[in-house]
Amino acid sequence: MSDIRNEIKKRRTFAIISHPDAGKTTLTEKFLLYGGVINTAGSVKGKATAKHAVSDWMEIEKERGISVTSSVLQFNYDGYCINILDTPGHQDFSEDTYRTLMAADSAVMVIDASKGVEAQTRKLFKVCAMRHIPIFTFINKMDRDAKDTFDLLDDIEKELGIPTCPVNWPIGSGKAFKGVYSRKEREVDLFSDTRKGTTTGEVKKVAVDSPEAGSLIGEEAKALLEEEIELLDGASAEFDQDLVDQGKLSPVFFGSALTNFGVETFLQHFLTMTTSPLPRMSDHGEIDPMEEEDFSAFVFKIQANMNKAHRDRIAFMRICSGEFDAGMTVWHVQGGKDVRLSQPQQMMASERKIIDKAYAGDVIGVFDPGIFSIGDTLTTSKDRFAYEGIPTFAPEHFARVRQVDTMKRKQFVKGINQIAQEGAIQIFQEYNTGMEEIIVGVVGVLQFDVLKYRLQNEYNVEIILENLPYEHIRWIENENIDLDHVSGTSDMKKIKDLKDRPLLLFVHEWSIRMTQERNEGLILAEFGRS
Ligand code: G4P
Repeated sequence: MSDIRNEIKKRRTFAIISHPDAGKTTLTEKFLLYGGVINTAGSVKGKATAKHAVSDWMEIEKERGISVTSSVLQFNYDGYCINILDTPGHQDFSEDTYRTLMAADSAVMVIDASKGVEAQTRKLFKVCAMRHIPIFTFINKMDRDAKDTFDLLDDIEKELGIPTCPVNWPIGSGKAFKGVYSRKEREVDLFSDTRKGTTTGEVKKVAVDSPEAGSLIGEEAKALLEEEIELLDGASAEFDQDLVDQGKLSPVFFGSALTNFGVETFLQHFLTMTTSPLPRMSDHGEIDPMEEEDFSAFVFKIQANMNKAHRDRIAFMRICSGEFDAGMTVWHVQGGKDVRLSQPQQMMASERKIIDKAYAGDVIGVFDPGIFSIGDTLTTSKDRFAYEGIPTFAPEHFARVRQVDTMKRKQFVKGINQIAQEGAIQIFQEYNTGMEEIIVGVVGVLQFDVLKYRLQNEYNVEIILENLPYEHIRWIENENIDLDHVSGTSDMKKIKDLKDRPLLLFVHEWSIRMTQERNEGLILAEFGRS
């Protein structure tokens, strides 16, 4: 066990969240440079290379030049084994993006210094906050004109409701960017942008109180820095590792991913402040990877038809305890039978590689003959515990599905149900209208195209999607509610899911509050229980 425990202890599994264009890809790429995985910037998944990504997983990926799938990047750095879970953004933002966060032990939030907190960050942050996982902030693009630093921190605290603790502090921004001041070391790290593509080159550090500091950054900048530090020391929260662990305090770092400034400092601090694989709740209580010797994992993502010839699916699972051996037989809790996990793979950018060992904290993809669902548990433990399910995340786009050829009802129902089971879309039914029509909800609009394409190509069913104006969905938490008695706003629609659970759709956000006011005791939830 001790060897396994050592392997687990050195693992750091995290997701990077950001609004598109804040610099997530660039930062990831710089991490990989430090990990020695790549040796030139731009070779991983920069936008230019993404267009030609070697991926035959789905035709649609090729056609659109985007990646519909999310992957995991694993590399070693400074004695740590790092797993970065990629959270798809841009148009391919989907429920998978949220679900990936369920497999992470912490999150790095990248914010564009000229923009502050943006919409997609806000949504992803909510999921991290729900899980109480540590959240670290990297304020990027300091080489461009940035918002006032205090305003940026205020923005994070107000928008996201989490206190911040700057570990370092920027000295100017844009053309006047001189570097960062490390608060604990009382040192100035001087900016140079000559290190764009490599990890080599030293950052020049000088003590802030030294006369050299003034001459290097300029007396004016130094005076302003001293003023800001004084203000900061009086106003900001003190660093407290316990609060960081509980996701109640976010350490903040400043830098410029593009010019590779502040990235290694961030990585080094982050790795000591973040956590090794965390315990996870099951129906038999908490399972701690430091104590539980048996293998256990849960499925958080299913990728269909990566190889069209075989119509196979890959189930991605996060290992939560023990060691994985290729070809091992494990108990599939939800299926109630033993299964052999074959073709285990790990992702390396757009390549897949076959692996034979993995440990708690790692993510593996295994061949799925169509038996797994999102949230399923696999284990070798005699206790046969099941991990807590993954919540259903709120779709933001809805459409009514019409079949072109109604004779193909059977294929249609089979296809749409299978695609829903993989978690790419959610399906709902009309409430009490007697109509059999299906309403489909998605997190990102691209999923509509994926649905259409896959029904046509895999099930030979043509559909027409009729967009609905709703943007907000709420699950009703009250047991035994009579939906007939819920009185809502004129822009509200009553629907039910396939398990007959009632839900409400709204066009306007403010209608949610009004509906709550009109129906005393009505409990509306933003996440659905699985
Ligand atoms: P994302 O994954 O969060 O969507 O962002 P990505 O890293 O792709 O970065 C978005 C754009 O911002 C890219 O420019 C990238 O070069 C730039 N960028 C990232 N970090 C920094 C930074 O620290 N400073 C500056 N000035 N720019 C930064 P692009 O022109 O859209 O793409 P590309 O042609 O450079 O690939």
